[in-house]
Amino acid sequence: MKWTLAFAAAIIAAGSASAMAETSVERGAYLMKSIVACGNCHTVQTPNGPLADRDLAGGMEIPDEGMVARVPNITSDKETGIGKWTEAQIILAIREGKRPDGSIIGPPMPIGQYRKMADEDVKAIVAYLQQTKPVAGKVAASEYKFPLPPAYGPPVGKVEAPSRSDKAAYGRYLVTALGHCIECHSPMGAHGPDTEGKPFQGGAVFKGPWGASVAPALNASHLGSWSDDEIKRAITTGVSKDGRRLTPPMGFGYYKNMAAADLDSIVAYLRTLK
Ligand code: HEC
Ligand code: HEC
Repeated sequence: MKWTLAFAAAIIAAGSASAMAETSVERGAYLMKSIVACGNCHTVQTPNGPLADRDLAGGMEIPDEGMVARVPNITSDKETGIGKWTEAQIILAIREGKRPDGSIIGPPMPIGQYRKMADEDVKAIVAYLQQTKPVAGKVAASEYKFPLPPAYGPPVGKVEAPSRSDKAAYGRYLVTALGHCIECHSPMGAHGPDTEGKPFQGGAVFKGPWGASVAPALNASHLGSWSDDEIKRAITTGVSKDGRRLTPPMGFGYYKNMAAADLDSIVAYLRTLK
């Protein structure tokens, strides 16, 4: 009897351990379909959501002052996507903005934030990308009328994610390194979003078929009177505190897949912003 109980306990323990252990591809799929949402730029967005049969095949044009960025195909297609790139080459592109041929990836890809992406998470994203369906489709080169920097900083090296038990610290990692919320929710400075000087102070304007939307501050000056649930509802469903439907380009369709623990961590961090 004693043996049977111990055996049953062992099975339960093994079962819950395997339910917990996530493969790298599973982690990558979760990140890509929720907080990281590379598809919010790398998939053509229509009023009815992202073009499902051309997931990550690029093709969006992002015009801005002095530039027309054309978002490339990052599916595993060998000719028009990144199917020939190695894991290390794709990591270098994401975290340091360098292609295998040595050229630099221009804005608005948020390389400055992706530099802080943990090794484990960037590897999971690459594992996911490498098993995507190849979708053929060549995208023309971007045009930048200003010089791109020779690099976005020194080599990245090893990066570890903060512990999930420290909610505010992990939340900060989510809204910077993984979700780059900070890039849209900080005001524009002379060299792009002023994420260092005025982090999360709001004011950047996004123009498109929806008109112009202004990303508000995410600190207490704006969210102080909001409940946790109101903040989570805005992030995951695109509905503001007063019930107004929010306009693009925030990736609500991806954020709706965010795990409850990740949303809790984001709110915990935003609450520290006075
Ligand atoms: C805000 C929009 C945006 C987001 C978010 C974004 N990218 Fe990009 N990405 C771009 C643009 C624009 C370029 C091309 C820039 C250029 O032409 O120099 C690019 C280039 C790339 C390239 C180089 C491909 C090539 O063939 O030159 C890779 C790889 C890439 N992105 C991967 C990713 C991954 C992975 C993510 C998510 C972790 C991501 N990007 C998130 C806009 C974005
Ligand atoms: C590509 C730019 C972009 C990104 C990335 C982005 N946002 Fe936003 N966000 C906006 C814009 C623009 C608005 C305002 C839309 C409107 O007013 O219709 C907004 C609105 C919001 C609101 C609602 C504010 C209100 O007054 O209704 C919250 C909360 C928010 N964002 C949080 C976040 C968080 C957290 C993240 C990261 C997980 C994030 N955003 C990522 C652009 C962005």
